[in-house]
Amino acid sequence: METDFLVIGSGIAGLTYAIKVANACPDKQVTIITKTQSDETNTKYAQGGIAGVMDTSHDSFQKHISDTLIAGDGLCDEKVVEIVVKEGVQRINELIDWGANFDKEADGDFKLGKEGGHSENRILHHKDITGREMERTLLAAIKEVPNIQLISHCFVLDLITQHHLGYLVTKSTPDIECYGVYVLNLKTSRIEKVCAKLVMLATGGNGQVYRSTTNPVIATGDGVAMVYRAKGRIENMEFIQFHPTALYEPGIRGQCFLITEAVRGDGAILRNQDGEAFMRKYDERLELAPRDVVARAIDNEMKIAGTEYVFLDCTAMDRDKFLEHFPNIFEKCKSLGIDPLKDFIPVAPAAHYSCGGIKTDEWGRTSIKNLYASGECACTGLHGANRLASNSLLEAMVFSHRAFTNAVQKINALQFKTGIPNWNEEGTNKPSEMILITQSLKELKLLMSDYLGIVRNNQRLQRANRRLDLLHEETETLYERTQVSPQLCELRNMITIAYLIVKSAELRKESRGLHYNTDYPQRSAILQNTIL
Ligand code: FAD
Ligand code: SIN
Repeated sequence: METDFLVIGSGIAGLTYAIKVANACPDKQVTIITKTQSDETNTKYAQGGIAGVMDTSHDSFQKHISDTLIAGDGLCDEKVVEIVVKEGVQRINELIDWGANFDKEADGDFKLGKEGGHSENRILHHKDITGREMERTLLAAIKEVPNIQLISHCFVLDLITQHHLGYLVTKSTPDIECYGVYVLNLKTSRIEKVCAKLVMLATGGNGQVYRSTTNPVIATGDGVAMVYRAKGRIENMEFIQFHPTALYEPGIRGQCFLITEAVRGDGAILRNQDGEAFMRKYDERLELAPRDVVARAIDNEMKIAGTEYVFLDCTAMDRDKFLEHFPNIFEKCKSLGIDPLKDFIPVAPAAHYSCGGIKTDEWGRTSIKNLYASGECACTGLHGANRLASNSLLEAMVFSHRAFTNAVQKINALQFKTGIPNWNEEGTNKPSEMILITQSLKELKLLMSDYLGIVRNNQRLQRANRRLDLLHEETETLYERTQVSPQLCELRNMITIAYLIVKSAELRKESRGLHYNTDYPQRSAILQNTIL
């Protein structure tokens, strides 16, 4: 198959880029590939909303920039922060033009929510299901564009580069180029090659590397792992954001239900097992301190009490307002016998967002030619050591737009690469038992949760490293002998992601933002990104 523009991923980053390149180049074919159903994305689960300076009567670009820089703890790229904050407003207005509904006051002004680290109310939202509304809008918009095709249930295995043409490609090879991807078609079980002039990776996050995460099962870091295998540049992988308040449900592991930070923005209070409102012991910004601070405080309270959760107290909140803003959370709690306006909600931190990823420049270009990255899989420089709440959807739209402007200038000068070989399955057999994959996955999630969680130390990192070596060795052997399956490839990708997180964590001899190592509790005077 050949397509001019190839987009991997159907979340906000992939769909925004696809709509724009397709509209600008009606004579070119745009193909979106996604590994499960088209709407199964992190985007769909976004709750709190999208940050933007929409009301300049009391907010300003400077305030949003400053809040982003403070959260990022010294590691944000200031130019990128300015770009995202300033260009973000135009991107939000485009989304509204495409049909997204954000909640409004009776006078027609947007209802703007507040979340941790924000000095002003600036979060546009659609109740507590903002992501669902955005995904709906974008999937409807692509249906209106005739030169876009969306192919679901196709698992992208690897990027095609000079390596597949028989050349030795290393980290120091200049001008590594991307010619397309190999894809496992899950409907036919065949591996196909898709040649493209330009490829956009919009493969999202990697929360599934941990035992408890707010991310859906698709979030296995495939794009980052593919770029690493292709010898592209990866940055700042140690900065994994744990959301402070995932709903605690005994026995539930994997994807946890989120209780949006906007609930704390509207007045909810965190309490420990004794009923004490403990945030005053940790930070003067209390419940609305940045996420790293709140998650560490909860972690500490859980350790003191020896429990697996703390409580979110919404009982002083106005019932009608709560039902209007958070109907989905209300329903979920009620389904578990919790009335959020009468009972405390049990909550615990869960892996939520990867601040690092595929290093891109200010046009979304990666270190590999003809390959862009946008959204959660990318590391643009916006988030630094910790992402400010609700800046992720904004970043994805701004960088997908920037990549689009760059891509449409290039496309006419590009040709399809010829001579690309078919996928080589020689020497592989059908998997004999899935337990080899599922057990390794359990071990991986456990070791990452226990050794690479909110608080780290050198001994834990060393142990994680040794166990990962073994998992890596066993999985590579299995991969060489077995016909590929999404389960095997995701395990392999997640081991790569875990390795990148551990290695980056080892390189950072300090505590900063989301990376807290008790052997180096202070910030270092030297600012550095961790590049792998
Ligand atoms: P995604 O939306 O995750 O899309 C990734 C796509 O890539 C999917 O279609 C997937 O199938 C596809 N894919 C991945 N690997 C492959 C492969 N190998 N082959 C083919 N396809 C592949 N951010 C905010 O700014 N505000 C919020 O309020 C907010 N709330 C959140 C709440 C929750 C519960 C979660 C989980 C995240 C939240 N975030 C929020 C973060 C934000 O939703 C994500 O960072 C953002 O949606 C990522 O968008 P994306 O397009 O990069 O990736
Ligand atoms: C939330 O709604 O609390 C999540 C917001 C985000 O991750 O930006």
